[in-house]
Amino acid sequence: MKMRVLDWIVCPVDGSPLRVENAVTTGEGDDLDVVSGLLVCDQGHAFPIRDGVPRLRPDDLLADDSDEAAEIHRRAAEGKTIAASFGREWDHFDHDTSRTWHETVEDRQKLFMQEVALTQEQLRGKVVLDAGSGNGSHSNGISQLGCEVLGADVTDAVTEAHKRYSTKPGSRVHYIQADLMNPPFKPASVDVMYSSGVLHHNPDTKAALDSVLKSLKPGGTCYIWVYHMEPGLKFKLQLMLRSVVSRWPAPLKHTFVRVWSVQSMIRQHIRTLLNLNDEKDRLTWSERIVDLMDIYTPRYRFMHTQEEVKGWYAEYDMADVVTSEVRDWGFGVVGRLPTGLGSSEHNTHNSSEQVLTQEASG
Ligand SMILES: C[S@@+](CC[C@H](N)C(=O)[O-])C[C@H]1O[C@@H](n2cnc3c(N)ncnc32)[C@H](O)[C@@H]1O
Repeated sequence: MKMRVLDWIVCPVDGSPLRVENAVTTGEGDDLDVVSGLLVCDQGHAFPIRDGVPRLRPDDLLADDSDEAAEIHRRAAEGKTIAASFGREWDHFDHDTSRTWHETVEDRQKLFMQEVALTQEQLRGKVVLDAGSGNGSHSNGISQLGCEVLGADVTDAVTEAHKRYSTKPGSRVHYIQADLMNPPFKPASVDVMYSSGVLHHNPDTKAALDSVLKSLKPGGTCYIWVYHMEPGLKFKLQLMLRSVVSRWPAPLKHTFVRVWSVQSMIRQHIRTLLNLNDEKDRLTWSERIVDLMDIYTPRYRFMHTQEEVKGWYAEYDMADVVTSEVRDWGFGVVGRLPTGLGSSEHNTHNSSEQVLTQEASG
């Protein structure tokens, strides 16, 4: 963990500033990395830095037996459920050979600039929160555009991502293990809040958006990508199967995905032989397993409409709101917070009820 990360993080329990204690470090100057130590706030809450990564989920609290500690650990329950399913997913990701969602890192870098509607020049020197950074390769790709990136995810995938990308000299990407619903980010501290394919995997998508938006500066850019309902019988059958499989115990779900991947790969090979699929859809076995796990295993997987998301942005009086990306599976909407609005004001909105397009497995 680089010391400048302290500018963007706070104690997830009470929002107060954190300091580093008992630090073991490597490197020097801008590349000085805290490999292990403690992050402590004035109220005495302590969280570990392990393998160079700040561990700031509620259940990472180095706690005593107090009632407060029990309450904080209770807040960790949903995050643990999310981590359990996605953690296994990223175990199948191969940083050397896998693409993410059929795209190379370079493709995703170009797409990122379209998604957030900012040029590389505008991004230089800015701070981007990649909320739900997954395997972490995209956070690193974004940082190569010249900005500082905080890649935050609830899973242990941040450990490998840190080792691969943050320990390189001059790296501008920082990984944090965090639960976005109990966010450890300093209010109004980042210029871009980017969250691709993440918020709809929480019990309430709008509440997750409200939670991460606290970190965005007035005038900052917000981009979220969420699932939508697709037309067609294939999609409906997939949803029906998912609603059954996603309720199964983890080992059974993962066995299902492995078995299902066999027929899925056979169908892919046939389509390839008949020249019926694009290069992008010719997946390796690991890429296929990650794809299938993403469809069938997460506990929550809500779907939304563009109007609904734009309604959420309207609650924050966001300007320049446009749908900047549409795919088979979902869409992304970008907007800018008004410049004059402080973070404390723009977070007083209540989370609205999610609409009927939702599909929950649990
Ligand atoms: C489908 S993946 C998308 C990853 C990445 N944004 C990308 O585009 O490649 C969803 C990720 O969001 C993370 N996630 C979902 N809810 C979260 C939460 N409340 N806190 C932290 N991470 C969360 C999951 O752990 C998972 O890695």
